[in-house]
Amino acid sequence: MEIRLLTIRALFAFSLSSLAFSSFAGVGEGQELYNSFCTICHGPLGEGQTMGKPLTDGMANRLSDEDLLAVITEGRSGTGMAGWGDSFSDEEIFDMATYVRALQGKAGLNLADDNAGISDDPAVLAGEDVFNGRAGCVNCHTYRDQGGSVGPVLDGLSGRLPAAALSEALLNPSASIVSGFGAKIVEQEDGTQIVGRFRNDSELAVQLQSSDGRRWVTFFKDRVKLIIDSTESLMPDVYASLNALEQQQLLAFLNSL
Ligand code: HEC
Ligand code: HEC
Repeated sequence: MEIRLLTIRALFAFSLSSLAFSSFAGVGEGQELYNSFCTICHGPLGEGQTMGKPLTDGMANRLSDEDLLAVITEGRSGTGMAGWGDSFSDEEIFDMATYVRALQGKAGLNLADDNAGISDDPAVLAGEDVFNGRAGCVNCHTYRDQGGSVGPVLDGLSGRLPAAALSEALLNPSASIVSGFGAKIVEQEDGTQIVGRFRNDSELAVQLQSSDGRRWVTFFKDRVKLIIDSTESLMPDVYASLNALEQQQLLAFLNSL
């Protein structure tokens, strides 16, 4: 048991060192708690174990933030998932939930009232039009449950991304790539290259999500020439091509999220 635990810890420390959790408040605390209390059933990376289900599958991904907190606090009656509300403070539960979101490749929790973010400021509304229209941001990013899935969900963005990090993300997307949103390049036997968001890897295959977000494609490793990590973000440099007014409006909108 001692050795098994050590191995799990070593694996865990290793896998975490390769992720950059810069913008998750409380994630470090959540990670320690998760490591001590949840790994045994849900696996070091939330991949699932005999006694617990995966926390990174579609079902867990679709839990709203409220439901995620509720299932950790109250458990699911009739299953192996006990409630942890009596053992941990609200803050500790929140930290663990934040960490579960990080394992899902998402940024933190956003518990703001859904309507609270809807603004009547004209600059914000104009910025929302730029986001959904000319700049095409919505093709890759979801906010208030609408949009694409190639990039991170942007609800709660202003709370988790300081102004400097936001302008860096917009002006220089490849400078630091949000953990879980990296790209891979697959070069096929005929020399054509395909770039997509890296979703899964196994001994035999890798799975990429096409950059328009629509398809998940599996490439068998023995049938392609090369699979490499891309150092480029999938996010195009659209921001720089907007005029100053559009940029201002877009920033006002992003800061309202
Ligand atoms: C003894 C095993 C066990 C432990 C320990 C455990 N869980 Fe669970 N957990 C389960 C099982 C089993 C389910 C599935 C319940 C069901 O069938 O709906 C579950 C479900 C969940 C879900 C809901 C997933 C979904 O898709 O709806 C979350 C979130 C979760 N657990 C988080 C945690 C966290 C965080 C911890 C550590 C504090 C933890 N669990 C500890 C067994 C466990
Ligand atoms: C083709 C898909 C795509 C389009 C279009 C796109 N993005 Fe992104 N965006 C991404 C991806 C992928 C990431 C994560 C990788 C990275 O960090 O660069 C990202 C990251 C971001 C981040 C950082 C998020 C965080 O949690 O740190 C912000 C902010 C952002 N995008 C805003 C925008 C805005 C505003 C637009 C429109 C001007 C836009 N994006 C257009 C794919 C896209």
